[in-house]
Amino acid sequence: MSLSILGISAFYHDSAAALVQDGQIVAAAQEERFTRIKHDHNFPKHAVDYCLQEGGLTPEQLDYVVFYDKPFLKFDRLLETYLAYAPSGFRSFMMAMPLWLKTKLHLPREIRKALDDRYRKRIAFTGHHESHAASAFFASPFAAAAILTLDGVGEWDTAAIGWGKGNQIKLLKTLRFPHSLGLLYSAFTYFCGFKVNSGEYKLMGLAPYGEPRYADLILEKLADLKPDGSLALDLSYFDYCAGLTMTSPKLERLFGGPPRAPEAMITQREMDLAASIQKVTEEAVLRMARTARQLTGARALCLAGGVALNCVANGKLLRSGIFEDIFIQPAAGDAGGAVGAALFVHHQLLDQPRAANGADTMRGAGLGPSYSNEKIRRFLDGRGIRYQFLADEAELLQATAQAMVSGQVVGWFHGRMEFGPRALGARSILGDARNETMQATMNLRIKFRESFRPFAPCVLEEDMSQYFELDRPSPYMLLVADVRKELRHELSPAQLQLMKDPDLRKRVNVPRSTLPAITHVDMSARVQTVDEARHGRYYRLLKEFKRQTGCGVIINTSFNIRGEPIVCTPQDAYRCFLGSEMDVLVLENCLLRRSEQPALSAAERAQYLASFKPD
Ligand SMILES: [Fe+2]
Repeated sequence: MSLSILGISAFYHDSAAALVQDGQIVAAAQEERFTRIKHDHNFPKHAVDYCLQEGGLTPEQLDYVVFYDKPFLKFDRLLETYLAYAPSGFRSFMMAMPLWLKTKLHLPREIRKALDDRYRKRIAFTGHHESHAASAFFASPFAAAAILTLDGVGEWDTAAIGWGKGNQIKLLKTLRFPHSLGLLYSAFTYFCGFKVNSGEYKLMGLAPYGEPRYADLILEKLADLKPDGSLALDLSYFDYCAGLTMTSPKLERLFGGPPRAPEAMITQREMDLAASIQKVTEEAVLRMARTARQLTGARALCLAGGVALNCVANGKLLRSGIFEDIFIQPAAGDAGGAVGAALFVHHQLLDQPRAANGADTMRGAGLGPSYSNEKIRRFLDGRGIRYQFLADEAELLQATAQAMVSGQVVGWFHGRMEFGPRALGARSILGDARNETMQATMNLRIKFRESFRPFAPCVLEEDMSQYFELDRPSPYMLLVADVRKELRHELSPAQLQLMKDPDLRKRVNVPRSTLPAITHVDMSARVQTVDEARHGRYYRLLKEFKRQTGCGVIINTSFNIRGEPIVCTPQDAYRCFLGSEMDVLVLENCLLRRSEQPALSAAERAQYLASFKPD
């Protein structure tokens, strides 16, 4: 008899649903992919429907439904925080309360309604950090490990250290709101003019341009970082308890002026602030990891929570040798809480055994919907769209690799959509990493942005150490490693001068290695390693690219334009292909060329671009 558990994460950002059947993660998806609203925080009705469909279940057949945090505890925290800061917090209190009263406190009713009132059994609620911890440990290949969860805030806790053994986890130590490494990082994200909860990745990418000249000041004034990695923030510099912004006028005085306005020119101050908060974050993560090691004695570490997406800190943690091995939940943010909550019920509450046999339970993150050739052809034929059907995979891969070699940009749509924030070769835009103009082409013609960040490389797992200083696979693009010394270029005096240009785009465009499009200014890269077991056809595409060029590295960026959620359906992919200037679109075995498609009018394109808010 099978045991089916539906996990739900919602109402903060990145709502998601996940289905665990007999301990296997059968399906998981973020709501944004279906509604086309980036970071959609509404109840994940579409994601729930998808999970049930993938598992072949009706709502009545579910054994448990579980929500990833405890809304009453969170309500308690909000109420107490607002009371403590009354009357200054009154405005944000009044803004938050109607939503809380309407949906969050009536969550069980909301969940039953979304399941068409056909689910009559229990609804469970797991703790926020329990959900993150479960998503890290139960999905890991380890039989025993230390666990570290780090995020902004969930209920009262902002970080937790725990251990996992067999089918049980236990949280040993937590850090309490308002003292939070995630919120500290987010406050700097806000102050540097990026969007909180999504711009953190940009701040991390900005850090290599700066000098950490404010790190000591941050530690002295803002955050008292203790030897065990816990921290106490001086709340007079922040405004997230009482107000609607993250930072206070006192912080502006400390750093010489108001926050950078979004989209305004990035100055040396922001670069140095980014480098500084990154340094402080890395130090805090290392200290917490050391504490976790001391408390548990474990040799391996599992990580989750939004801060675990900081792949630069992860790379340093790995190289520090505090733990021999680490596993990072690829959906480390709140979306992954849906998976964690379901696994928690299965193992911890129902005491079901867990096989830690080294297999990848996250299946390379391919947990979302897939579309058959038959479905795709029905769509293309129905719309009279011209394409070539290449039934033979070798022929398809040869043509696709050939397009990349000739400098074309390829939209690649194959298999099950990724769960989590990164595109990993199922919904990706690909190009030749050796091409010096590829970075600018992809940014301007495809993504419609001017970025100071390089793209991420995908490398054949067996070739990783030829290109990067990396000694283990990074299948989820969660580790940053340096490009190998022998591939780096000696910069000319003119190029060195350009590296000081206030316009960061000029700096990032200086070719620093034989793989210019993926090498950051500090010679690092956000590496994804690709292997046949996890990535199948995508791996074989890289093999074919290598056969044609001798190079086992390509550029991989998410299949979307700026502000758009990653594409989910063939229709989304075709729309994005037409709306951008991609040259080739591969939808499973169907190959479409731009030259054979109708051109969008300027008005049609403008309308498409305007349908997504820049992030
Ligand atoms: Fe969280």
